[in-house]
Amino acid sequence: KDVYAVAGNPITHSKSPLIHQRFAQQSQQKIHYGFLQPELDAFKKTADTFFSAGGKGMNVTVPFKLDAREFAHQLTPRAQLAGAVNTLYIQNAIIYGDNTDGAGLVRDLLVQGIALRGARILLLGAGGASRGVMGPLLEQAPKQLVIANRSADKANELVQLFGALATSHQVFLQSVALGDLEKSANTNTPFDLVINATAAGLTDESPISDAAASTIFTSKSFAYDMVYGKTTAFMRQALYRGARVSDGLGMLVEQAADAFLIWRGADCSQKIDPRAVLNELR
Ligand code: ATR
Repeated sequence: KDVYAVAGNPITHSKSPLIHQRFAQQSQQKIHYGFLQPELDAFKKTADTFFSAGGKGMNVTVPFKLDAREFAHQLTPRAQLAGAVNTLYIQNAIIYGDNTDGAGLVRDLLVQGIALRGARILLLGAGGASRGVMGPLLEQAPKQLVIANRSADKANELVQLFGALATSHQVFLQSVALGDLEKSANTNTPFDLVINATAAGLTDESPISDAAASTIFTSKSFAYDMVYGKTTAFMRQALYRGARVSDGLGMLVEQAADAFLIWRGADCSQKIDPRAVLNELR
């Protein structure tokens, strides 16, 4: 059996082993998929041992996505753009680093019926989670993408980094400080889609004020929180204004599906059914 694993710290609550076992069953394959919990400073040692022992591929989650980028011999273009790696695989003794997070988010949104082409999108946060999804979002050619962050400098850095890609897809890309969200006249119109990629979803606070929520959401908006397993304060703000909401569980399953296809071959895509796995997890 080919051996795969997910590495993170903490890792015990990871749903990845279950998800990948389901994909294996659906495509009638037998794989071994385990958990790895490296010490915070020991990702490289764990990954070296894993691949030296014949491991075929690894999913990487918090807090090791930057370590995984360092560890990979070669990065795919989208991993380079994301600045982080969530999927490692070995081919002819070369370890490749890829990133399927953004593709997973985009697929989950599209499956949920959210039109991205021509949409006005607000992305909250300017950390690794935001950077990881910006490329795939821009490639969907929304009309506008606004990055809002507590520290405006970090949002502005992302705008610089992705400026060329935005231009090539004719996207109006802007940054704004979270605190200025309700003030800035040209960004505070309602958004079609608001994505929470801040770490605020983990605690029970929303990154946006109620005043900002009132200008950002209408009943036609869609609010997406990358956190999963609960209705966050951010989602409640959107629900209160009649918007549709989603947590990030679909993104988790869809990024896993992409990783599975990288490892097991694109011809499996007809056989696996991520939405059935998502329903089981719900
Ligand atoms: P990740 O890789 O999960 O994105 P990160 O790189 O540490 O983690 O980034 C965390 C993001 O959440 C940042 O955008 C951070 O804002 P700052 O850059 O201003 O620090 C944001 N964040 C964390 N806690 C927040 C809170 N309580 N309110 C608003 N934004 C928050």
